[in-house]
Amino acid sequence: MSLKLQPKDYTQWHSPIETVIDFFKGKLTELGWGKSDRNEIIMDVGCGPGGTTREIILPFFPKVGKIIALDVMPDMINIARGKNAHPQIEYVVADVTEWSAVEQWEEKITKVISIHCFHWVKKQKEGFKNIYRLLMSGGEAAFFFVLEATFFDAIEKLQNSSKWCQYLKDRDNRIPDSHHYKYDESYYKNLAEEIGFEVLHCRKEEKIDVYPDDTTIKSKTQLFIFYF
Ligand SMILES: C[S@@+](CC[C@H](N)C(=O)[O-])C[C@H]1O[C@@H](n2cnc3c(N)ncnc32)[C@H](O)[C@@H]1O
Repeated sequence: MSLKLQPKDYTQWHSPIETVIDFFKGKLTELGWGKSDRNEIIMDVGCGPGGTTREIILPFFPKVGKIIALDVMPDMINIARGKNAHPQIEYVVADVTEWSAVEQWEEKITKVISIHCFHWVKKQKEGFKNIYRLLMSGGEAAFFFVLEATFFDAIEKLQNSSKWCQYLKDRDNRIPDSHHYKYDESYYKNLAEEIGFEVLHCRKEEKIDVYPDDTTIKSKTQLFIFYF
């Protein structure tokens, strides 16, 4: 068994968070994203229940032709289709690290965006490589994901505590290698350049999201911990 995100609970808790909104208003706007030509084909990788896709990505690209929103979990896609349907968004179940699952879009995508997904992706290099192959010539990709978190330390502490280890020991905690090996921006810049990307911006930054109250943060933590 592994740490698993429960789609229904994630949806209840989820609302666009400030650091994600800032990423769009700040860095992506600075890089000229959003003023896109008509009929761009955008792919959202790891779209989850589709809140970010419909509430942030769609309005950010007013002239978009279509958004293809992928997620590896069928339940996430079912919720996205129910709660965040839009005529310009196509929700699809697909694992971005499996070429056969995504090859139909080879060289057809103008922009790829992936929010809070890649820290969950074990075969990161495969995922980045596939995305590179999906982009048309001149296409661009933007990734926003977690490298390290105090939350991951808390999970490990629980796994090793005498009280909880009987339940949590030897379970896949989904903590990314970047947390243990302290990968910085040069690791990801080199990886992307090896694949063929020209890197315009790559930065490891400390981000803090403030939750409105203790109940919200507790329910978010439960959401991850109790589904090992
Ligand atoms: C934390 S959620 C973020 C969802 C959404 N982007 C958002 O901003 O709310 C991460 C999502 O990435 C998906 N995911 C993880 N690995 C994936 C993969 N290899 N291919 C596609 N989706 C993946 C998970 O199923 C999960 O729904």
